[in-house]
Amino acid sequence: MIQRNDSTGNEDRYRVLVQAVTDYAIYMLDPSGTVTSWNAGAERFKGYSSGEIIGQHFSRFYTDEDRKNGLPARALEISEREGKFESEGWRIRRDGTRFWAHVVIDPIRDPSGKLTGYAKITRDLTERKKAEDELRKSQEQFQRLVQGVTDYAIYLLDPDGTITSWNSGAEHIKGYSADEIIGQHFSQFYTPEDRERGSPQTALETAAREGRVEREGWRVRKDGTRFWSHVVIDAIRGEDGTLLGFAKITRDITERKKVQESLDQAREALFHSQKMDAIGKLTGGVAHDFNNLLMAVLGSLELLRKRLPDDPQMLRLLDNAVLGAQRGASLTQRMLAFARRQQLDPKPIDLVELIMGMQELLERSLGSRAIIETKFPLSLNQVMADESQIELALLNLCVNARDAMTDGGTILISAREEHINQSHKAGLAPGHYVCLSIADSGQGMDEETLARATEPFFTTKGVGKGTGLGLSMVHGMMEQIGGRLVLKSRKGEGTTAELWLPVAAAASDLAREQIILTEETIDAAPLRILAVDDDALVLLNTAAMLEELGHTVAEAHSAAAALDLLEEQPFDLVITDHAMPKMTGLQLFDAIKDKWPNVPVIIATGYAELPGAREMKILNKPFTEHELASAIASFSSAV
Ligand SMILES: Nc1ncnc2c1ncn2[C@@H]1O[C@H](COP(=O)(O)OP(=O)(O)OP(=O)(O)O)[C@@H](O)[C@H]1O
Ligand SMILES: [Mg+2]
Repeated sequence: MIQRNDSTGNEDRYRVLVQAVTDYAIYMLDPSGTVTSWNAGAERFKGYSSGEIIGQHFSRFYTDEDRKNGLPARALEISEREGKFESEGWRIRRDGTRFWAHVVIDPIRDPSGKLTGYAKITRDLTERKKAEDELRKSQEQFQRLVQGVTDYAIYLLDPDGTITSWNSGAEHIKGYSADEIIGQHFSQFYTPEDRERGSPQTALETAAREGRVEREGWRVRKDGTRFWSHVVIDAIRGEDGTLLGFAKITRDITERKKVQESLDQAREALFHSQKMDAIGKLTGGVAHDFNNLLMAVLGSLELLRKRLPDDPQMLRLLDNAVLGAQRGASLTQRMLAFARRQQLDPKPIDLVELIMGMQELLERSLGSRAIIETKFPLSLNQVMADESQIELALLNLCVNARDAMTDGGTILISAREEHINQSHKAGLAPGHYVCLSIADSGQGMDEETLARATEPFFTTKGVGKGTGLGLSMVHGMMEQIGGRLVLKSRKGEGTTAELWLPVAAAASDLAREQIILTEETIDAAPLRILAVDDDALVLLNTAAMLEELGHTVAEAHSAAAALDLLEEQPFDLVITDHAMPKMTGLQLFDAIKDKWPNVPVIIATGYAELPGAREMKILNKPFTEHELASAIASFSSAV
């Protein structure tokens, strides 16, 4: 309320002051609402000069609508009754345009308290209102945007981590509706393990300290299921730096993680198979050459034995040399097996029978601390494999099992049949298999050992104890027969080795032709034999053996040289190496069959996978004089 000041000097000064103010419209009304004074500010905002407006009713500044609603009269009434009227609203300028006004109306009374008029102060807040409106609009838009996002959970937390807002993405990903979750603490999205570790609190602290955290981890949905999430938490601070809360954006990247993982696995598997392949080639190459060398050594030693005087000391030395060379030969045999280049003789095998037949051998090899238990179904299909190689594999696996059980224990050998349809995780081709499993309760293997166990020469048994070729041989042999070795193990939890063996198809039950070797001496008529080998040492050895057997031998260092010799003179038999440069033994065989169909050919090889269909004899390297003799005998009887 304004009291009228009777001091004229004061009033003048007051009038001058009011007149000069241009940022506020300041004017007076008489008790009925007629304008009685007008300042520069009023003129500026409303566009009327004082001459035009003094004497007019103030309601003309109001919009038609406000006037219709009786707002001007009510404003005066409120001001008179309550001592002040204050409001904001649209007002009209002289030119008809609108402006947003902040209005205060004070009643003016004389000393006796009688109402003499009103003082009205109006401010033009159009600019501020526009800014406020725009802010509100952009906030609303932002809200709508955030709400509309369904692929991201976007929500706010107060400084303590209590949820204060929730968008539809959050509902979509986490399963809670806004009503359910606002007001709850955000730590409930974490796994119990993470909560125990204090992860939610640490995340907020880090965000508060560094402004932002970005993490990936498991989170829990309302229904308890887990998803792999990518989370960003931003700290929100006021202008003065106080922490207002956090903005949290979460994405469900479970699918991406899964894809990434299977990609990694595939890459790992590819790398592993490439590595094994490379090692296989190397091992196979080395083994093949060593095989030839050992053959020369063994062959020569055998010949030497016949010529040696009967001196026990010399014989012992000779026996030693033979033993050493034989051990080397068995090593190269295992290496060839790993490289899948072993000569195999697959036949249908009854596994139960085979294992029962191995009982004594196993008991003898394993000692008394390891007990073998078996568990087989009542009937088990026969499998297609090389019998002696399967025996060797079983023996290897059982010895490994025993070695892993330092305090003794039980080795369980069991079998089951399975049909593999499409993709088997061990990469088996679809088909019908018998899975023969050898399980121990030993020390097991850590991840690295398990990954490397089938690598040739990988052993943890120490120098001189293990060759590291046991599992390599089993692995290579299984691959070669179209099966698979699968190892399952964990540190401290024992090991299970599975041999996935293809079931023998009915057709392969047909008896197969076999070379029958007998230990009797074989007397054969002397023959003219052509020996072919690119390795001079091996050739010399073969020739020596043949001569020892009483035959006449011609030597050729290549297939081409052999064909030349055949043109020059007749031969009763050709014995040739297979792996030779330019022309292989097999190609030589075909060339001979073409031109000299009646000359029998023996192919000596350390390699597998020679097609068996042709009528040729295959002699496995290294061979003894006796094996050579029986191979020749089987022909000369046919010739
Ligand atoms: N049943 C098993 N339990 C625990 N570890 C095993 C088992 N079988 C194999 N291993 C691990 O795998 C390695 C390789 O086995 P592999 O049979 O190829 O060679 P080795 O047994 O060491 O030597 P060798 O077979 O020539 O005696 C072993 O040294 C061992 O560390
Ligand atoms: Mg072993």
